[in-house]
Amino acid sequence: MKIIKILAIETSCDETAASIVEKNGSNIIIISNVVASQINIHKKFGGVFPEHASRAHTEKIIPVVEEALGKTKPDVIAVTTGPGLIGSLLVGVNFAKTYAYTKNLPIIGINHWLGHIYSCFPHEYVIHSDSVVIDGDSLPANKHNQLLNHAAKPQITFPLLALIVSGGHTGLVLMKSHTDIEPLGETLDDAAGEAFDKVAKLLGLDYPGGPAISAAANCHSERREESPANAGSRTSREILHYVRDDKIKFPRSMLDRKDYNFSFSGLKTAVLYKFREIESQFNHNQSRGEAANHYKSLIAYEFQQAVIDILVGKTLQAAKEFNPKSICLCGGVSANKELRIQMEKAVMSLRASAKQSDQETTFHVPPFILTTDNAAMIGIAAAYHLDEANTWKNINADANLRL
Ligand code: KG4
Ligand code: ZN
Repeated sequence: MKIIKILAIETSCDETAASIVEKNGSNIIIISNVVASQINIHKKFGGVFPEHASRAHTEKIIPVVEEALGKTKPDVIAVTTGPGLIGSLLVGVNFAKTYAYTKNLPIIGINHWLGHIYSCFPHEYVIHSDSVVIDGDSLPANKHNQLLNHAAKPQITFPLLALIVSGGHTGLVLMKSHTDIEPLGETLDDAAGEAFDKVAKLLGLDYPGGPAISAAANCHSERREESPANAGSRTSREILHYVRDDKIKFPRSMLDRKDYNFSFSGLKTAVLYKFREIESQFNHNQSRGEAANHYKSLIAYEFQQAVIDILVGKTLQAAKEFNPKSICLCGGVSANKELRIQMEKAVMSLRASAKQSDQETTFHVPPFILTTDNAAMIGIAAAYHLDEANTWKNINADANLRL
């Protein structure tokens, strides 16, 4: 059987990424996975600045593809065609089209959200990933080889229920096969990752907000166990009492509705008002220091738990209606450890109750390296959609592409 070598390219937002994925019969192997992150560029804005993003893609696309390619001669090109920032998408799509044209190769357009879903599929395989993650401006940087062996994990079986949670999208998708794909619902306003980023900015935490909120929330989990009597300053003791009295409760929007849509903007506003209230109560004109850290981590903890409750609640609701054989959690926010733990527990409880009806639901998350944007997931998706190969003339970027 011929090995098919796919060159995959992803530039939908703020990561310039390229990967070589090989399809050898039913084996899918990630040969290289190169990501040039723009975090340092967007940090000072507390969010992605589209104009800077497309400029950085233009600078990085050739060296990133060169690094991913090595000596490989690809048989097919895969590229993210949308959804995303149009200025960013155009860099990857036009590069991919030009490459396909000059080498006379077929090209496959991949929906970014579908790519995130396929980031869970490597659990079926032994992956050899020679990955390079380039942080900031230097190229190439910390190269590391990885052998990600997920052979012991259960296989994904259709119907598959996928929760995609990223910075640009939050939605539930039901896949009955590789081609029968039905979006069940999506966010009506902010994406979950966007909410993490905005709340982090409000609290003066780092960018991107997800990892920063998660670290602050962990600090609070540890403090929660402390006795108020040993809590240092008087303000810290007051804050601990405030926590004990459960004075912070954020809304779990949409959980009472029967549809599968999400909304995070009300939660974000609730955090803003609570933050202002606490600041005026505890922060005697000092937005730094022990007390401020204390209540910021408390808010981060309660915010994160509200997001997790919404995501887990909606996923379980859909699982009860559609009885999937597999559930997958993917997208940048799926890097959140607490979300992974709580979602897995919820799926286990579903499994326990499903035992009577003889159906066990398996749970899947991507390896951490494939949670945030990367091109390997685009290559894996392409490996399952090789019959969609097209000519460069029919491939276009679409900022609002739907599944
Ligand atoms: O999938 P992704 O790389 O880009 C989009 O497709 O949008 O997701 C990026 C998002 C950011 O909003 C980031 O804050 C969030 O993923 N994220 C996290 C964590 N790591 C990244 N959110 C929560 N907890 C994390 N540990
Ligand atoms: Zn993404």
